[in-house]
Amino acid sequence: MINCTTNIGLPNIKCGPILLRPLTMEHATEDYVGWLNDPKTNRYLETRFRPQSLSTLRAFIERQIENPTVAFFAIHDGDNGRFLGSVKLSDIKEQHRSGVVGYFVGDQESWGRGIGTNAVGALCTFSMRQVGLKKIRASCYSGNLGSIRVLQKIGFTQEGRQRYQVEGPCGREDILDFGLTEHELNFENFPAIIE
Ligand SMILES: CC(C)(COP(=O)(O)OP(=O)(O)OC[C@H]1O[C@@H](n2cnc3c(N)ncnc32)[C@H](O)[C@@H]1OP(=O)(O)O)[C@@H](O)C(=O)NCCC(=O)NCCS
Repeated sequence: MINCTTNIGLPNIKCGPILLRPLTMEHATEDYVGWLNDPKTNRYLETRFRPQSLSTLRAFIERQIENPTVAFFAIHDGDNGRFLGSVKLSDIKEQHRSGVVGYFVGDQESWGRGIGTNAVGALCTFSMRQVGLKKIRASCYSGNLGSIRVLQKIGFTQEGRQRYQVEGPCGREDILDFGLTEHELNFENFPAIIE
């Protein structure tokens, strides 16, 4: 298994229109804070319950980077290098070879360009091919159609529904739980190039 301590040792990963780079404190930018506070972007994110600032963001990044069960990547535009969002593998369980993926594309102009799908697909390829995970889980609000579609396009299957679980933007919502086994990821669709 890859040791994710401090994110050092994580590679850069190229896939279609995106480049994943290990997320560092250099990514703690005003843009990132703005994404977290933007009501359209944070509609289905837990960050919407508390105003975000550079200091809360730095503290969050520090916790992720120092957590050995987390691999935290910044999503960059593969052509011009622009920072677009983040994708994270967390709750990595070495004994069970499993983990949980979370993601967001903060730059709204980049929505609908395949950024989310390729970022999550590339992280799944890396996690299964390089880290050796056999199962990856993900969860999202039932109203988050874009997120559901991203998971479906990668090959995730819905495994559960936590009914009436959360306070969504328009009232009470379910949480949908998805899973992907090493046999279900079509690696050819996400030929992540590890650098
Ligand atoms: C959800 C999110 C990750 C999608 O990223 P993206 O880069 O726009 O996704 P893609 O371009 O890869 O699109 C994947 C599919 O989802 C569809 N899609 C994207 N946003 C959608 C929306 N709001 N409603 C319906 N479908 C949507 C796309 O049309 C595409 O499907 P298709 O190829 O069948 O047409 C992005 O909108 C985002 O980060 N939103 C805010 C934060 C968030 O909700 N994160 C997920 C938390 S679980």
